Amino acid sequence: MPEDSEGLYILLVSIHGLARGHDLELGRDADTGGQIKYVVELARALSQHPGVAKVELLTRQVFDAKVSSDYAEPFEDLGDNASIVRLPCGPRRYLRKEVLWPHLDSFVDNVLQHVRRVGRIPDFIHGHYADGGYVATRLAQLLGVPMAFTGHSLGRIKKQRLLEKGLKESAIDAQYNFAQRIEAEEITLGNANLMVTSTHQEVEQQYPLYENYHPRRMTVIPPGVDLSRFYTPRPLEATSPMKAELARFLKQPRKPMILALARPDERKNVATLVRAYGENAELREAANLVIVAGNRDDISSMEKGPREVLTQLLMLIDKYDLYGQVAYPKHHESEHVEDLFRLAAKSRGLFVNPALTEPFGLTLIEAAACGLPVVATEDGGPRDIVALCKNGLLINPLDAGALGKTLLEAIGNKTRWQRWSKNGVRGAHEHFSWDSHTNRYIAILQRVISKPRRANHVVIARKKNRLPILDRMLVCDIDNTLLGDDEALESLLAQLRDSEHNVGLAVATGRRLHSAIGVLKKYNIPSPDFFITAVGSEIYYGHGLLEDTGWQRHIDYRWHPAALKKIMQDVPGLKPQAASEQRLHKISYNIDPDKAPPIREIITFLRRYDLHAKLIYSHGAYLDILPVRASKGLAIRYLSLKWGLPPERILVAGDSGNDEEMLRGNTLGLVVGNYSPELERLKGRPRVYFAEGGHAWGIMEGIRHYDFLGDIRTPND
Ligand code: GLC
Ligand code: MG
Repeated sequence: MPEDSEGLYILLVSIHGLARGHDLELGRDADTGGQIKYVVELARALSQHPGVAKVELLTRQVFDAKVSSDYAEPFEDLGDNASIVRLPCGPRRYLRKEVLWPHLDSFVDNVLQHVRRVGRIPDFIHGHYADGGYVATRLAQLLGVPMAFTGHSLGRIKKQRLLEKGLKESAIDAQYNFAQRIEAEEITLGNANLMVTSTHQEVEQQYPLYENYHPRRMTVIPPGVDLSRFYTPRPLEATSPMKAELARFLKQPRKPMILALARPDERKNVATLVRAYGENAELREAANLVIVAGNRDDISSMEKGPREVLTQLLMLIDKYDLYGQVAYPKHHESEHVEDLFRLAAKSRGLFVNPALTEPFGLTLIEAAACGLPVVATEDGGPRDIVALCKNGLLINPLDAGALGKTLLEAIGNKTRWQRWSKNGVRGAHEHFSWDSHTNRYIAILQRVISKPRRANHVVIARKKNRLPILDRMLVCDIDNTLLGDDEALESLLAQLRDSEHNVGLAVATGRRLHSAIGVLKKYNIPSPDFFITAVGSEIYYGHGLLEDTGWQRHIDYRWHPAALKKIMQDVPGLKPQAASEQRLHKISYNIDPDKAPPIREIITFLRRYDLHAKLIYSHGAYLDILPVRASKGLAIRYLSLKWGLPPERILVAGDSGNDEEMLRGNTLGLVVGNYSPELERLKGRPRVYFAEGGHAWGIMEGIRHYDFLGDIRTPND
C-alpha cells in the first residue's frame, strides 16, 4: 500500500456540467462555465506541486448523443499525476444540476468502489458547489478524512437576487430546487474543515447568510490563471482567426476595442453596456465595442433565457444603429479568448465586465495578464482584483450613463492606460498565478491534515477508515464468541496482529454501541473497523464512531414501532427489556418460552394487523423485533456492497440466534463450540463450520479451516 509519505492524494469533486481535459465547452450551458475551468486547472496545478502524489477530479459520467463521447470515458489523463475520473450518477443522459440531487448518494457509493480500486485512501477531499460539497461531506465522513468546500455560487444569495427581481418564491423553488441546494450547503459548511473562497466579499457578505457560518475556517485564495496562455501581445505571433472574424463587423477595426465576454445571461448585464455605448456619441467615435456572448447557431431555437438576452442585444444594436461599430461574433473557440484579449490590448482598448454581481471574475485576471486594463462592476471579484493589481476602474452596473463616461475616460488617458496595462501583468503574476495558488493551498491543507479542526457534526478522527484497503475481514459476535475465554482471546488477537495481510476486525452484537465499546476496552481489544450493534439495526464506523445514516434510511422501510409495541402487549410471556435496550429500530423483550406462543404464531398475529417485522429469538431468553430489512447478516451484506469487499472474504463468527442471518449466505460462517440450540439447524451447510473449541478457540479453529489468514479456501456449495 502506498504510504502517505509519498505525497498527498487529493480528490476534487465537481459533479455537474461537462468537464474534460481539452477544448472546454465553456458557456455551452449554464452548468459548464467558470467552475469547470477552475477545477480542471486546479487539478493540473495541484498535481505539479512537489508535495502532491495524485489528484483526481471526480465528475459525473454522461452517455448522451447530444454531448461528446469524451464525457462517457471513465478515465482521462490530465498529465503528470492528475486525471479526471467519471463515475455514474443516476441516469446515463446529460442532466442539469438542479435535478441531480436524488442521485448523489449513489455517486458516493461509486466513489467508494473507485477508492477500493485505487487501493489508497485519499488524504483530502475538496467539494465544489453544493452538489460536490454534499458528496465530499459524505465521503469525508465515511473515509475519515478532512475536507474543503468551495461554493462557487451560493443558493441563499441566488435566491435572494431572484426574489429581488420580483419572481415568485414558489416558481423559483420549482425551477431551481433551492431547498435542497441550501440544505446541502448548510450540511457542507457544518462539516468542512476548510472553506476556500476566491474573494473577501464572499466571506464577509455571502457566507454570513448561512446558519453554519464559520469565518475562522474560511480562507481566501484567488483563482490561478494559466499564464502560459494569457500573456501580452508578441510582435511576431501569427494573427488569430478572431481578427478576420471581427473585421466582418467593424468599419474601423484599428480603433481601441472595448471587449465584453459573457454568457448570454441576463445577470451579465450586457444590455446596459450596449446602452452606455449607444448613448455616448464621443465613445462611439473613440472606440469599437466587441461582445463575445458564447456560441450560437440559431437564436430562435435556443432556450428562453439566452434567446431573450441575444434578441434584446440585436434589437439594441439596431435601435442605436451601431452597424460597423459593434462586433458580436456568432462563434469562437475557447482557446481564442486569449487572442481576443491580446487584440484588445494591442488596440489600447479595455476589458469590461458590467455583470450585476461578480463573485469570481477569472476573465478579469486573464485580461490583466494580457496587459488589457479593466472596467468592472463594483463587486466581490473585481474589487479584490482591481485593489491588488491597480489596473482599472470599478463601476455601478445599473448606471448606463456613468458607465459610458468611465469607459471614455479610461481609454482617453494614454499614460494611465500604460500604467494600468503594466500593473495588470505584474499583478496577475504576483497574486494570481497557479503556482502562488497551489503553494498557499497546500500549506493550508497540510495544516488542516495535521491538526484537523473540529467540525460541527463530526469530530474528524485522527484515523482514516481502512475499509477500502482491507483485503479480508473478521466479523465477530461479542458475547460468548469473542469473549468468554481470556487466554484464547489473547492468542487470537496476536494472530490477527501478526498477519501479513490487511485483515479487518469488526463486531456484530446485540449490545448498544456504548456498551460494546466499554466491554471491548475492558478486554483490550483494538478499536474495530466497524460496529454492527443493536442486533444489526445500527452500523458505526470505528474511525470517529460515525453512524452509517444510509443504513438507517434503508431499514426504516415499513417500520411502525409504536403500533408494534402496542400490539405486542397482548402477547403472553413477554417482558420489555430495560429502556436503554429499546432503540430506534429495535424493540427487545425477555421471553419466557414456556408461557409465550411459538415465534411463528407471533409473526402471524402481527401480520393480521398489517405489521411486518423481523423476530429474532436468542439464548432461549431474548426476543428482538427489528425492521424487515435489518439484521446482523443484512448489515454485513450492505457493508460488503458499499465497501466492495466480497462476502467470500468475510469470516463471520457467532454463537446464538441473533447471529443466524449473518452465518447464512456467501460469507464464511463459523459457529463456536459453545453455541445455543437455535443454531442447530445450520448444521450441514458447507459454509457454516461448527468448531469444536469454544469462544475464541473456536474462532481460531475456523481461521485454520478456511485458511483465512492465508490463501482463503472457499467451500463449494
Ligand atoms: C443483547 C442485547 C439485548 C438483545 C440480546 C439478543 O443482550 O443487549 O437487547 O435482546 O442481545 O439479541
Ligand atoms: Mg453471542
